[in-house]
Amino acid sequence: MGLSIVILAAGQGTRMRSSLPKVLQPLAGRPLLGHVIDCARALGAGDVCVVHGFGGEAVRAAFGGAGLRWALQAEQLGTGHAVMQAMPGTDDANRVLILFGDVPLMRPSTLEQLLQITGEDDLGVLTVDMDDPTGYGRIVRENGDVVRNVEQKDASAAEQAIREINTGVMLAPAGRMKGWLDRLGNDNAQGEYYLTDVIAMAVADGVRVHGVKAPNQEDVMGINDKKQLAEAERALQRRLVDELMAEGVGFADPARVDIRGRLTCGRDVYIDVNAVFEGDVTLGDGVRIESNNLIRDSRLGSGTVVHSNCHIEGSTTGSECEVGPFARLRPGAELADNVKVGNFVEIKKSRVADGSKVNHLTYIGDCDIGTGVNVGAGTITCNYDGANKHRTVIGDGAFIGSGTMLVAPVNIGKGSTIGAGSTITKPVGDDELALERSKQVSIKGWKRPVKKGS
Ligand code: UD1
Ligand code: CA
Repeated sequence: MGLSIVILAAGQGTRMRSSLPKVLQPLAGRPLLGHVIDCARALGAGDVCVVHGFGGEAVRAAFGGAGLRWALQAEQLGTGHAVMQAMPGTDDANRVLILFGDVPLMRPSTLEQLLQITGEDDLGVLTVDMDDPTGYGRIVRENGDVVRNVEQKDASAAEQAIREINTGVMLAPAGRMKGWLDRLGNDNAQGEYYLTDVIAMAVADGVRVHGVKAPNQEDVMGINDKKQLAEAERALQRRLVDELMAEGVGFADPARVDIRGRLTCGRDVYIDVNAVFEGDVTLGDGVRIESNNLIRDSRLGSGTVVHSNCHIEGSTTGSECEVGPFARLRPGAELADNVKVGNFVEIKKSRVADGSKVNHLTYIGDCDIGTGVNVGAGTITCNYDGANKHRTVIGDGAFIGSGTMLVAPVNIGKGSTIGAGSTITKPVGDDELALERSKQVSIKGWKRPVKKGS
């Protein structure tokens, strides 16, 4: 039997108090809905339909090209009404699994269990026992069997005491679901078409209803406001860090790290507090990340150490490099092996070959640096003429004196030496010394100006 997945994502999420639709609020750097789509894909469903409404264009734009089916719910008249919008394109012969766009921590394994336990002609409802069930639909059982769901606002005092709640996830044969949805009414406290009313309809039709309990509350938590969003963020971060620790990655404090994307680590990686990883980041064996670092879409080779307070983006390092403290590697910075980049150094779109050092207060942009080069403090590649960018090439073994301006395009030969304070505009040959300075003037007995009136 085929599987269709319908994801409800039409609600505004008023309690977010945001102009961004709820399902686009970011969790671990990605929209809530993205996590739910991933979960749906992990189940191998060929047909995934997103019901969109509020901010629909923005939602569609965020997931264009993801091979999804879209159903518009122009007016949000309830969860049952939302599912109805998806049914015309759903094959009657399939089973339909309903997920919520604001329940991002759902695990595929939980849904696989629901799919397994629920017979092909039966109705499956994913439930969970909540410490505080306030606000959720309550699952009413008789002699252990699920007979119906009652929403908080429609529940009697006795029903409100029930701790088993409806997570919202439901599984049914699509043909049957269509029939039930056609018969839904909205005679309830909220005047909405409740999806949950199909439970009682199934019971009345003699269909078996399976109430399958999720393993914990956290995985099925619905996100309605910024507080719950922050709680889900911490829960997801903890899940990601736990996975990495199981693989042997060391963390100074599992609660003080943020992974917004995919972090892949080799053996004996150690990560100190307040490290933020965004996009695709790979850390080789023995990499050490000190405190307060942002690393985005980068690959650091084995044994590389990133000292505190660096900002690294779109960059690569070879093995045994040292970066920072207070360094900035911008997109296209490629450090080979044993390279040192020190404090207040910015490197952009430049290759730095083996063993070279750029240790202090320097800007290197659009530059090729050979092996064993020493770039002195305060060196600047003047790569921009106000209209175009130009390259600087520095040969192997060159020594660039402190405070040098390298006005690109310019070529600095192998083994050459640049005297401190020079502004280099012409090529320097191999093994040459280049100096560009006015003569020093020393005036004997010089009197400094004195402050007037003193
Ligand atoms: C719903 C369930 C409740 C369950 C809870 C779990 C119903 C009637 N109630 O309540 O039993 O305990 O979820 O979190 O189903 N949506 C639409 N279109 C609509 C209405 C909602 O797409 O017309 C979407 C929302 O964007 C959201 C989801 O459906 O992603 C749930 O809607 P919400 O209004 O939050 O339902 P709850 O009142 O929380
Ligand atoms: Ca909700």
